[in-house]
Amino acid sequence: MRKAMVCIAIMLFLAACDAPSQRDPVAFSEALPESEGEQLYLDMKCPTCHGHQGSGDGFLSGGLQPQPGDFSSAEVMGAIPDAQLKDAIRNGKGGVMPSYARFTDHQVGELVRYIRSLSQSP
Ligand code: HEC
Repeated sequence: MRKAMVCIAIMLFLAACDAPSQRDPVAFSEALPESEGEQLYLDMKCPTCHGHQGSGDGFLSGGLQPQPGDFSSAEVMGAIPDAQLKDAIRNGKGGVMPSYARFTDHQVGELVRYIRSLSQSP
């Protein structure tokens, strides 16, 4: 009798464990970061000026002079070499873009790769 009770208890427990997998998958309102570069871009708050899509429309961007460029435009980005992007990240630019001198070469490279991806259709 006792064994049967334990058995039923275990079965109920397992049934309860299984339940969540039958629910609809959780829908996140925003996609999770997919690369190290994207993670850095978000963690370092680059979107405050550059915007989440890189189009230069971050919430701080309104009063900036110069304005951030448009990372989402293939035309704009096609004219800018990697070295210029890396230099801006390391040393700052135009008196507004801060310098991020502590990033490793790897991190700067990943950021540039992510910024470039914003102007490429998936
Ligand atoms: C306080 C606002 C601000 C923040 C924060 C900021 N930027 Fe910028 N960024 C700018 C502005 C403004 C420019 C344009 C400067 C210019 O053209 O002289 C710029 C320029 C750049 C450029 C050079 C683009 C070009 O045309 O040469 C790169 C690359 C860049 N930012 C990347 C980043 C990354 C990566 C981060 C986060 C780690 C970041 N920025 C954070 C304001 C910002």
